[in-house]
This record gives sequence, C-alpha cells and structure tokens, in this order.
Amino acid sequence: MASNARITCICCVFRLLTWALTFSQLATLCGSTIKKVTKIMQRDSLETFIESVSTIWAAISSELVVEVRALLAKLVATTTEEAWLAALHTEVPESRELYRDRLREFLLLAHTEAAGLYRAPHDHGRGWVAYAVQRGEMQMSTYRRMHDLRGQAYLVKRESFIVRARDVRVFLPGDIHDTRCMAGPLTLFRFTSRDLKKEEVTRYPEPSQTATPLSGGKRYESL
Ligand SMILES: [Fe+2]
Repeated sequence: MASNARITCICCVFRLLTWALTFSQLATLCGSTIKKVTKIMQRDSLETFIESVSTIWAAISSELVVEVRALLAKLVATTTEEAWLAALHTEVPESRELYRDRLREFLLLAHTEAAGLYRAPHDHGRGWVAYAVQRGEMQMSTYRRMHDLRGQAYLVKRESFIVRARDVRVFLPGDIHDTRCMAGPLTLFRFTSRDLKKEEVTRYPEPSQTATPLSGGKRYESL
C-alpha cells in the first residue's frame, strides 16, 4: 500500500511538472505576444510612417502619390511629445536623414531653415519629391523651361504659393520649383523617391524680373 502510494505520488509529481512546464511555456508565449502588441501600440508617428510607406511602395502612380501625401499629412501633425520631433526642434539640424530605405531607395529627410533662406529653381532628376512643412512657413514657385526662337532656354514662372504648417506639396519628375523660407525656424520633411545626391538634377540661377537666358541647361551641383 505504501509502495502504491509512492507510485501515485511520483505520477502526481510528473503530472505537476508537466503542468508547470506547460504554464511556463504559455506564460513565455503570452509575455512575448504582449511585448509585440505593446511595441506596436507604442510605435511613434515616424515609425508608423516608415512602415506604412514600405508596405504600399510601388512604381510612381497617382494612387501612390495620394497615399504618401496622406501619410505625410499625418506625420506633420505630430507634436513634440514625441521624442524624435522634440530633438529636431531642440537641435535644429540644417539637414538630417530620418530614414533611408536601402531596398526601395526612398528617403525621408528633415531640414531646418531660417527666414529668408532661398533655394533657387531646380528639378529632381528622375525622382519625385514631397515637401511637408511641420512648422514655419515657406513660399514656393513653380517654373517651366521654355526656348525662344533662337533655341535659347529660359524659365517661365507658373505660380507662387505659400506652404504653411501641415501643408504637403508634391513635385513629379521634371517639375521645377524654388523655395523661400518666409517664417522660421522652419521644420520641413522632404520625402524623396530616391537619393537626389546620386541624381543628375538641374539647378538654375535665381530668376530676375526679366526672362534670363540660361546657359544651355547647365548642370549644377545636386541639391
Ligand atoms: Fe526641390
């Protein structure tokens, strides 16, 4: 009888050990799941933007431009309660790469500008670009490259407009524009479909009131 009791007891011990192991595995699994869920819940707006763009990324199309514009609009609605944006406001970097996607090639950069800073007309090579103002205000003008009867190239301004905080503007390949910071410090997010430093972009002289002939579409240093 005493021997049987010992056997029962050993069986119980094994059963208890099995249960304990099962509970332990369950606890580990739950803990891991909770950590993943918590991480997703704690994702900041920058991480959300990057993941969302990565998910929808494709060759340029009207749909992609609309979606990226909408995602940038959400990004510029971020407040300085998020550490990464607070750091940009504190450190005011002239330029900072926030994200570079090595597989898909798109980039997200942040720029800080003071009032009065002017960037002369330029295109973006084969790239397309979206400008999203987070704070401050800038003026942009768009241009078309024309040729006179002698074949001499010159720029014609199409329009000028103010880009305020939370505004997003998109420029497609071939579009020409300039920027002037009107109210600073300006924090600007510049999303580019590819690294423009590796692109053959064209920069033009600052336009004057009269049509200034261009020197044969001279290639200038990359923006
Ligand atoms: Fe540009």
